[in-house]
Amino acid sequence: MMSENKYSDEDIVLKLSKFGTVYLYKQITDDKTNIKGNANQKERINDFFKALVKFEQFAEKLKSTTLFPNLTLLLYGPPGTGKTSLIRAYAREYKINVCVVESDRLVSSLLGETVDNIRNAVETAMDIAKKNGPFILFFDEIDAIGSERSNVHEVGEIKRAVISFLQTIDRISYEGVPLGIIGATNHQQQLDSAIWRRFTFHLEFDFPDFELREEIIKSFIERITFAGLMIEYNTIENELQKELIKINSIAEDLQETQQISSEDMIIKRVRELDENKLITLTYGYSGSDIERGIRVALIKSIGENKPMTYKMLYDSLKLVGGTATHVERQELLSSPTTIDLSHEGNKLLGTFRENFNEEEFQEYLSNIIKIFENIHNIFEKNTNLIEKSRKSKNPEAKFYSIIEKLYKLKNG
Ligand SMILES: Nc1ncnc2c1ncn2[C@@H]1O[C@H](COP(=O)(O)OP(=O)(O)O)[C@@H](O)[C@H]1O
Ligand SMILES: [Mg+2]
Repeated sequence: MMSENKYSDEDIVLKLSKFGTVYLYKQITDDKTNIKGNANQKERINDFFKALVKFEQFAEKLKSTTLFPNLTLLLYGPPGTGKTSLIRAYAREYKINVCVVESDRLVSSLLGETVDNIRNAVETAMDIAKKNGPFILFFDEIDAIGSERSNVHEVGEIKRAVISFLQTIDRISYEGVPLGIIGATNHQQQLDSAIWRRFTFHLEFDFPDFELREEIIKSFIERITFAGLMIEYNTIENELQKELIKINSIAEDLQETQQISSEDMIIKRVRELDENKLITLTYGYSGSDIERGIRVALIKSIGENKPMTYKMLYDSLKLVGGTATHVERQELLSSPTTIDLSHEGNKLLGTFRENFNEEEFQEYLSNIIKIFENIHNIFEKNTNLIEKSRKSKNPEAKFYSIIEKLYKLKNG
């Protein structure tokens, strides 16, 4: 399929600059080893890139199965957890150019323009992939397409944008073009469910747990040391090690006495027992928050012409603060009626998966879904129910009052 009229790098950048930023693989500097943890996510992303490279070879055969697998990957989770960096890192490794589209730039308040923008972006990328081989279109903040968060005021326009987006995705796989579509969002609850379903792979990213935070902090101070900058590496490393051992022993204690040890409980206990050290302080920080704190410490150390100390690091990380509470607050403000159950839900389902066989699990799941659909239907018809229940302060009372009201409603 590759034609002799390949686009030059300049043409690619020029053609796509209206829609977003083009990262030519030769210019990318991200490295997957700098993003710590996330082993599963890395493996899936690697699979995706491998398939993209081989896609053309199999396109005709895939067509005859009528399976048309979509080369689509959705990354979701809080900001600053490595989604974009990892995609760029793999693009460099597999020598594939990427265009990162800022989805809210595609969304226009002018009637019909959003649909045109999406189609133009995808068609341009398809043309590039047809002529030059594998290419990636990365829709950052994909929830902006077809969500009420976008600045499109007319519901019909939102729906048209979503439908148009889905149709263009289907065309890519139908035509066997080696164009990978990746979407990323920090607002997975607000993403249109039709878009969510259309993506073949879903990959969740989360805030790093205490072990991963230790690894991330250490990797940054190692890089500072290797660069030949002044830093009290041994002291800092030693403090981190001591704190990690302490947290681990508290986690084990909790596991034994309470049969459960969520990070929430562990950190609460550590804070009760101990002064707040680095790993504990950074609970709720993203990798990017940690990086920012370390930059602040670096500036301080350079400015004062003194080696970076544990205290500088601690004060700087405290100063920048973590994303977690900010995200929670924002979510509450932007959509008071949606609660993010996906995280708790995942944990719960994981437990059930371990205790049931696959058939039981599937049946259990479909029953739960039915219950939720019923609840959802009732809530849709009775929005004032939510208003009323929100006034109650005690969560348990709140829960029972909702159930009671639902029950009364259901039975007339
Ligand atoms: N798990 C991690 N390990 C190390 N650094 C991380 C990690 N997650 C995020 N970072 C740092 O934060 C930066 C920004 O992450 P980014 O990929 O932009 O996040 P996202 O796209 O999820 O918002 C990365 O370049 C990296 O320096
Ligand atoms: Mg990003």
